[in-house]
Amino acid sequence: MDEEIDMKRPENTSARDSWSTGFGFIMSAAGSAVGLGNIWKFPYVCGTNGGAVFLIMYIIFAFLIGYPILMTELSIGRAGRMNSVDSCRRIDPKWGFTGMFGVAGAAAVLTYYSVVGGWVMKYSSAFILGRIPSPDYFSEYSSSTVEPVIWQSIFILLTAAVVTFGISGGIEKVSSVLIPLLLLFLAGLMIYSLSLPGAAEGVRFFLIPQSTDIKSTSDIAHIALKALGQVFFSLSLGMGTLITYGSYLEDDFSITRGTTYIVVIDTVIAVISGLVILPAVFSMGLTPDEGAGLIFSTLTEVFGKIGAGRILGSLFFLLVFFAALTSSISLLEVIVSFAFERTAVSRKMAAVIAAVLFIILSVFASLSFGLLSDVRILGMTIFDLFVFLSDNVIMPLGGIFICILAAWKWGRADLVNEVTSHGLQRFKSASLYVFLVKYVCPAVILTIFISSLIM
Ligand code: TRP
Repeated sequence: MDEEIDMKRPENTSARDSWSTGFGFIMSAAGSAVGLGNIWKFPYVCGTNGGAVFLIMYIIFAFLIGYPILMTELSIGRAGRMNSVDSCRRIDPKWGFTGMFGVAGAAAVLTYYSVVGGWVMKYSSAFILGRIPSPDYFSEYSSSTVEPVIWQSIFILLTAAVVTFGISGGIEKVSSVLIPLLLLFLAGLMIYSLSLPGAAEGVRFFLIPQSTDIKSTSDIAHIALKALGQVFFSLSLGMGTLITYGSYLEDDFSITRGTTYIVVIDTVIAVISGLVILPAVFSMGLTPDEGAGLIFSTLTEVFGKIGAGRILGSLFFLLVFFAALTSSISLLEVIVSFAFERTAVSRKMAAVIAAVLFIILSVFASLSFGLLSDVRILGMTIFDLFVFLSDNVIMPLGGIFICILAAWKWGRADLVNEVTSHGLQRFKSASLYVFLVKYVCPAVILTIFISSLIM
């Protein structure tokens, strides 16, 4: 089996683009992971789902489920050396659909991701121009017709531009600068936020579980569902992103070390974001369960009140924008690598075609906050439908299939061989890892997936 896989590996991998340094790869994968999921979504999902209880479940799932799946995706990609579909097919020709899930899921995420990316760009520009929006401006802006569509189209075009330059020339260069910068700035903002009057209330909400948070077992199941979904989203799992990024990895790169860095960086940035936003929410006398507008309305209120608010606000939204960009790049790369490795089109052409397609799709997602807000499919707005399809259907199923493909079809020996670079790296917890991928991850995801459908 081992030999068979090796024989199928293309002879000349040097013709294919690859990461130029291990650091560059880690920053790019962290760049994919760290994005709107951490700074925009995590605080508000945590705020609407029980605060500290959510945080605890999130951290448990990140290491118990997210960590092994991330490692598995990187390994599938590196062994396959192709886009997510063909990398899965290398393991089992009948399992290309697992990668297809990734391509479809990435398309669904990108459609609504660019809407939020556009909001962030609008807020960046407003702060830079010195026009700090009022807290209730968000609902007015997001429901308007023309301007959001323009900003999100620019967001998509920028994403496509970086993807055009490929791996080492585009994605890696951008991420290696932006991710460390983001970490530093958020840490600074956290210290500021914690010093606001009344911030302790937010810290308590975020870090100390309250018995009132949970009233029944269905509450626990609901919070678990949200926490697992957030782990998948935040770590970019279940959608072929990390299969694709893994396919550009050098053979001797330590996948275990890389995975540890990525999961830790992503989790730390989510927790820091929580410690930026939630204390500020409580300090301003607002409530944390406001939903998708939370960072837009809360932080504009905070920045509107303080002396250097304009500069801090500009910096904040700019960095969130860059974080979103490094993530949307990873989403588009899944689609573009599939398109240009599978068809006669070039990387450039594939990026251009995809950009046009996503500009059109995301118009509908954006208008569902205003003009098309009455259009309901399965009871959901168009935006919510894309969120539901990707977060609640494609991501969990993709995750389960990846586990089955790796642990059951590929098998322990080959999987561990790839993780350890064919025995080059030590991997003391190999047995625990295989056990998690083979039994625990599929069982946990399946349980939560089914309970979410019946709840
Ligand atoms: N992880 C990113 C974030 O937190 C979003 C993202 C990028 C993503 N690639 C993905 C989500 C693939 C799911 C699947 O913002």
